[in-house]
Amino acid sequence: MTRGLNLIRNSIPAFQSSRKALTGTVGFVPTMGALHEGHLSLVEQAKKDNDHVVSSIFVNPAQFGPNEDLDTYPRQLQTDAALLESLGVDCIFAPAKADEMYGPYHTTYVDPVIFNSSREGLARPGFFRGVATIVMKLFNITQPTRAYFGQKDAVQCCVIKRMVKDMNIPVEVVIMPTVREADGLAMSSRNAYLTEKERPHASIVYKSLQAAEEVYSNSTVPASKIVDAVKSTLASEPLITEIQYVAVDSKENMQPLEEVVAGEGAVVSLAVKMGSVRLIDNIVL
Ligand code: PAJ
Repeated sequence: MTRGLNLIRNSIPAFQSSRKALTGTVGFVPTMGALHEGHLSLVEQAKKDNDHVVSSIFVNPAQFGPNEDLDTYPRQLQTDAALLESLGVDCIFAPAKADEMYGPYHTTYVDPVIFNSSREGLARPGFFRGVATIVMKLFNITQPTRAYFGQKDAVQCCVIKRMVKDMNIPVEVVIMPTVREADGLAMSSRNAYLTEKERPHASIVYKSLQAAEEVYSNSTVPASKIVDAVKSTLASEPLITEIQYVAVDSKENMQPLEEVVAGEGAVVSLAVKMGSVRLIDNIVL
């Protein structure tokens, strides 16, 4: 049998029966698969912190807009399972069909209202509602002690932390730093969509965030000055076809800041398009 396949549970009852057998603390790493080192860094930390680690692989339809890449999102369950097994994951919840998570009468959603008006929320209507709903469901199914998320998705991290507080969920949320390629590009399952020609030019995204860091240099500066520096760096790369947003937000709740105060910092986040590929990234100042 191919490595890792024995860890996969395709249904909620099958997963829950394996989960029941795990004693002690359990770390949980939710994913949509197509795993890379960013995902694996979460698993490694979960392994260090807990007696057991479980992961989920589910491309969640509720967080994809009508014109997004739900059908083409990369799916490679066997490879992913082998990777997770090599890191010592105990069990993988990978629902075979969306019906397993959203039955015919599904009607209850978790809506993290303030985050819908963050720049990423406005760019992807319904996205954070889809994320919060699936993560709430996955928490209920996997019953973890701790759950691991990547800073790469800055608003998502705030959404989950807020949901855990608001809904009194007994899970400790752990946020891990963004893992990058050698040239600075944040690892993402969607990087596979970049053409060979585009890929080397995508490093401009991280360079533009480093420009933000230079402007800030731990001094009090207007947010607009940071936005201008990021945008002008991005504009120097002709293969960036659209700058969807560059935002300077509070670290606490991703609400927009007029000014970044020395010592307090901010999150600078952006979304751009390189041809047909949407790239997001952020840096914490
Ligand atoms: P996915 O994009 O597969 O990411 C799963 C986890 O890996 C998320 O917490 C994400 O922030 C983290 N991650 C992705 N790229 C990373 C990188 N370069 N460095 C560090 N961490 C990284 O995010 C989702 O799936 C979904 O929204 C999910 C939470 C699973 C709900 O469906």
